[in-house]
Amino acid sequence: MFVYSDNAATMPLSREAFEAMLPFLRDNFGNASSVYGVAREAARALHGAREDVARALGAKPEEIYFTGGGTESDNWALKGAAEARRARGRHIVTTAIEHHAVLHTAEYLGRQGCEITLLPVDERGLVSPEQVRDALRPDTALVSVMLANNEIGTIEPIREIAAVTRAHGALFHTDAVQAVGHIPVDVTELGVDLLSLAGHKFGGPKGVGALYIRKGVRLPPLLHGGGHERGLRSGTENVAGAVGLAAALTRAVQTLPETMALVAARRARVIDGLSRIPFSLLTGDPVRRLPGNISFVFEAVEGESLVLGLDMVGVCASSGSACSSGSLDPSHVLLAIGLPHEVAHGSLRLTISENNTEEEIDYLIEQVTNIVARSRRMSPLWNEETQSPTERFWPQGVPASL
Ligand SMILES: Cc1ncc(COP(=O)(O)O)c(C=O)c1O
Repeated sequence: MFVYSDNAATMPLSREAFEAMLPFLRDNFGNASSVYGVAREAARALHGAREDVARALGAKPEEIYFTGGGTESDNWALKGAAEARRARGRHIVTTAIEHHAVLHTAEYLGRQGCEITLLPVDERGLVSPEQVRDALRPDTALVSVMLANNEIGTIEPIREIAAVTRAHGALFHTDAVQAVGHIPVDVTELGVDLLSLAGHKFGGPKGVGALYIRKGVRLPPLLHGGGHERGLRSGTENVAGAVGLAAALTRAVQTLPETMALVAARRARVIDGLSRIPFSLLTGDPVRRLPGNISFVFEAVEGESLVLGLDMVGVCASSGSACSSGSLDPSHVLLAIGLPHEVAHGSLRLTISENNTEEEIDYLIEQVTNIVARSRRMSPLWNEETQSPTERFWPQGVPASL
């Protein structure tokens, strides 16, 4: 059996996105800035895509700027806000569990003279509005807190945090790359100034994203050139990409209530199944959680070997210890929620979608259970006789559910 359960990494292109994109990859190849027929087609489609994305997010079309993906949107939001608000001050507040697209950008800004406050999170990965309020200073230019975490699925109280930030006069950005298309996201209801999204996380194509910039907020251009995207992000527009992103998002939003209910019910079954494995712990918030996110740590197991073992039986999954740079450092998110290094190494993330059938869910539970047991049999950290780890690593006591 083949089970794709790494939907937080990327999702397959939806049928709607594929069909919407095809004409712009073939016949309607025109440059959306040119004046003749085939180009006007492209310009019309781009305009329609912007309207669709705006409608899906509760925004106005002129507040949507297409970008080259989530990383680009995050970079633009942070660097742009830092520059735009330079006169106010150079203090930026963000959290310890952000994606590297935010964290590394903040570190870069730190080297450029900004002062960065990294807020800690609690054991479920939550940041509180009170923490943000306490961190705000007269020279705070920007607060950036993600809407939902990509590893542990925790959904942050963004509406409250945005309100605290904006009442103070600072700009508020949220990285909503994992949230858009998976939970309701309305920029007006959330009250954010800036919001990042990426097409491939909800069935759109890769390499295209968007940044929502609230009307009245002025960011400097990200790319200088021919003046595309109302002068802020130059470069011939990726019409097929924008059209595909919009089609995927429109479909995701239209089917959201049913999809969320279905996926959350299947997630509950997997969480229930994997919680039966001894010395396992669900990471992230059990309730304020993305519908498709199942993230666990298993003591006396290497997450990397679980992922490889699962690959051998056709299951695509990921581990917080598997880093894109090839290093085996445990994930910064798992350390931030207080897991000991040794335990954080044993992490596994499954992210399911509506495409995963009930049979696949059964298979996932069965295979993870088998592979954890097999890895432990070979591990020096596991006592096969007592069926327990040879050593516990919890400085503050083992959590109740282990
Ligand atoms: C929360 C979050 N932010 C930003 C990104 C970056 O998106 P992209 O790889 O499309 O640039 C990701 C991708 O995994 C993500 O999960």
